[in-house]
Amino acid sequence: MNEPDKQDKPAEEEKAGGLEVTRRRFLSFLFGLATAIGLGAFVAPLVRYAYPVIKPEEYPKIKVASVSDVTSDGVRFDYQDVPSELIQLNNKSFAAYSLVCTHLGCIVKWEANNHIFHCPCHGGKFDETGKNISGPPPKPLTKYKISVQGNDIYVEGLAS
Ligand code: FES
Repeated sequence: MNEPDKQDKPAEEEKAGGLEVTRRRFLSFLFGLATAIGLGAFVAPLVRYAYPVIKPEEYPKIKVASVSDVTSDGVRFDYQDVPSELIQLNNKSFAAYSLVCTHLGCIVKWEANNHIFHCPCHGGKFDETGKNISGPPPKPLTKYKISVQGNDIYVEGLAS
């Protein structure tokens, strides 16, 4: 009896138009999929860094607090779904920042006692002006444009 040996299989696949799923093709597909997922996990933070979370074309004006609400602990709010903080500076003026760390996107925390923003992930620090002063963050926090009208404080987009 003439049984087809292993070397005949590629020829049979070619005859069938190469549509047969072999173990080799399936494993190659799984390997390619795993490689793509791994590469995506590596590239995603870089893409997030390159493209800001806040969409620059949309700058709604929102009230974030009353002047009397702002304590040394600051006022947390979300701007376009981005965790943010309004603080009072040492010179008594107000400033508001995105709390998204400029290193890899962790949420920084305002430490009123030290007057700094501290990132719990890799120890990055920002001063009260949002400037990166320590650790791996490569640039300052995103600062918002604010306005004070009467007793109300508004955020109206990104500061230039
Ligand atoms: S994510 Fe903030 S220091 Fe790394």
